[in-house]
Amino acid sequence: MHILDILQNGLEAGASRIELALEEDLSKDLLRITITDNGKGMDKVTLDRVRDPFFTTRTTRRVGLGIPLFAATAERCNGSFTIESAPGEGTTIAATFQHSHIDRPPIGDMVTTLLSVILGQEHVDLHYHHKVNERDFEFNTEEVRARLGEVPLSHPVVRKWLREYLQEGLSALHSS
Ligand SMILES: Nc1ncnc2c1ncn2[C@@H]1O[C@H](COP(=O)(O)OP(=O)(O)OP(=O)(O)O)[C@@H](O)[C@H]1O
Ligand SMILES: [Mg+2]
Repeated sequence: MHILDILQNGLEAGASRIELALEEDLSKDLLRITITDNGKGMDKVTLDRVRDPFFTTRTTRRVGLGIPLFAATAERCNGSFTIESAPGEGTTIAATFQHSHIDRPPIGDMVTTLLSVILGQEHVDLHYHHKVNERDFEFNTEEVRARLGEVPLSHPVVRKWLREYLQEGLSALHSS
């Protein structure tokens, strides 16, 4: 849910490209999550206030919890949290967690998270990189789109292929 929240922020910031990287290093007992978008970015004043739960530029409600909650979870799990952002350039959020920490939320259903971004926003490209120790899996909608030509990612046959491809790629990462 944290990841989905942060991806959503990138979409709301008008990004045309989002990169999500997960790095699980079990020998170091470390999980690192990095999310980069090329959206509108934040100026210094916004950036200074963004970890405050009572700061939001939303007009529909008065609290913005995506970033403060993600930061709090990382810190509770002996991890760290950083945001870098520049107006007109984009934003990078990086969080680390002690992989085995009892409070670390499970990574969850990443296939559904990825598909909701890929299929929800046809014009946004998503680059996913997931590393578990020495194994890795990469997925880039730009490459898929180039191969599909005119066929949209949301075409039922493509959609089914995407789900299966992601499921297989991710389960291969964790199999013994
Ligand atoms: N990737 C981003 N690019 C540009 N601005 C961002 C980005 N992420 C967050 N912000 C700014 O920081 C504010 C706070 O973000 P946060 O996710 O904490 O709350 P929210 O998105 O406003 O509400 P919620 O996540 O609870 O739905 C946003 O309203 C937005 O102005
Ligand atoms: Mg948000």
